[in-house]
Amino acid sequence: MVADVGCGLGSSSILLAQSYPRTTVVGSDYHAESIELAREHAAEAGVADRVDFEVATAHTFTGTDYDLVTMFDCLHDMGNPLGVARRVRGALAPEGAWLLVEPYAADAVEENFTPVGRLYYSGSTFLCVPNALSQPGGYALGAQAGEARIRELSREAGFTRFRRAPETPFNLVYEIRP
Ligand SMILES: C[S@@+](CC[C@H](N)C(=O)[O-])C[C@H]1O[C@@H](n2cnc3c(N)ncnc32)[C@H](O)[C@@H]1O
Repeated sequence: MVADVGCGLGSSSILLAQSYPRTTVVGSDYHAESIELAREHAAEAGVADRVDFEVATAHTFTGTDYDLVTMFDCLHDMGNPLGVARRVRGALAPEGAWLLVEPYAADAVEENFTPVGRLYYSGSTFLCVPNALSQPGGYALGAQAGEARIRELSREAGFTRFRRAPETPFNLVYEIRP
C-alpha cells in the first residue's frame, strides 16, 4: 500500500497504480480543488478502484503501515518539513521506504549557479518559499536545499538509512528508510 503525499492532480498516484497492478494508492493533498481533479483523472484512467484520494495536509494524511510513501517535488513547498518527515516516519511499516523526489541541487550556493539552479532559485523565491512560509512551521527548505540538508532532516525525523538513488539534471531521488 502506497501513500502519495502532496499528490496535486494525482498524476503520480495514477502512474503508480498503472505500473503496479496489485498496488493500492492513497493520494493526498491539502488543495481540495486539486483532489477533485485527481479523482476525475483516476476515473478516466480506469484505476479509481485502487486509487483513493483525500484532502489532507502532509501532517494529517491518514493511514499507517504503508510499504511506500512517495513525495514528488513538494516537501520543499511545505511549512514544516521536519514535522512532515516525522509524520512519514510514523506512517511507514518497519521495512517501508520513503521515496522522496526533490529538485536537483548541490549543497553550496555557488555550486547552484547553473542554468537549472538559477531557474530553480527564481521559482523558489517567488513560489516555493512564500508558499512554505504561509504555512505553520516557521521555516522553508526552498527548491535548492541540497542532499546534506535533506539527509540531516531525515536523520532528525528518526530515519536511519538514506540513499541518493537515481538523479536527472532536474531532480534528485532519495530512498529513505526507518
Ligand atoms: C509542485 S506541486 C507537486 C504536485 C505533485 N506531487 C506532482 O508532482 O505533480 C506541490 C504540491 O504540494 C502541495 N502542498 C503544499 N503544501 C502542502 C501541505 N502542507 N500538505 C499537503 N500538500 C501540500 C500543493 O498543493 C501541490 O499540489
